[in-house]
Amino acid sequence: MLVTSRSFAEYEAFFALTPADLSGRVLDCSAGASGFAAVANARGGRVTAVDPAYAAGVAGVLMESAPATARGAAVVRDHEDRFVWHWYGSRERREELRRDARAAFERDLRAHPGRYLAGALPRLPLADGSADLALCSHLLFTWSDVFDEAWHEAALTELLRVARQVRVFPLVVQATGDAVGFLPQLLDRLQARGHRVDVVPVPYEFQRGADHMLAVTRG
Ligand SMILES: C[S@@+](CC[C@H](N)C(=O)[O-])C[C@H]1O[C@@H](n2cnc3c(N)ncnc32)[C@H](O)[C@@H]1O
Repeated sequence: MLVTSRSFAEYEAFFALTPADLSGRVLDCSAGASGFAAVANARGGRVTAVDPAYAAGVAGVLMESAPATARGAAVVRDHEDRFVWHWYGSRERREELRRDARAAFERDLRAHPGRYLAGALPRLPLADGSADLALCSHLLFTWSDVFDEAWHEAALTELLRVARQVRVFPLVVQATGDAVGFLPQLLDRLQARGHRVDVVPVPYEFQRGADHMLAVTRG
């Protein structure tokens, strides 16, 4: 799995983030080399980033994330018909956002290493209720060809232990953009457990048709 570096602007769009969302304690889980925590915290936010890749230390995570932008661009080239460009405008703009985000991540990781915790779903090194909002970009659902339904349920349960609300984007399988077969029944089970489940349109689309996020609010 690539340790990618999506930008604050992408996260804002994936998760329809408002200033009120960003004023709370935010967890970015599966943060990779994203620039989200760096930019949000520079603007006064309280964001903690978690990713298993951080266990490799600063040099290790930078080495792991270095090839991600080029490899991601190659995946897009190989599946051209599955992507739309109205949000980014151009291939160059997308790659520039990734490079800038990775540079912001690197600066922030060196300056504030305590904001970046090594940890992996479905068991996070965080206390119950220690975040208001958890964001999960490009891990759950998109890697459902690797992680099964039981893993997803355990991961969402763990994120809801830590945060009052969890948002996940995208809701389709990586590269192919296929629907996730088990998603409807998993959402039914979360609702049956008393959680509020919303599938919300967002102002972003890159994989064709992947323009909704999941928001689950603890019941
Ligand atoms: C495709 S990257 C997404 C990174 C970032 N959120 C972004 O949108 O650019 C997926 C990330 O999930 C992390 N990851 C893999 N297994 C994980 C797990 N069990 N729990 C949390 N993160 C995991 C990987 O290390 C990788 O950084």
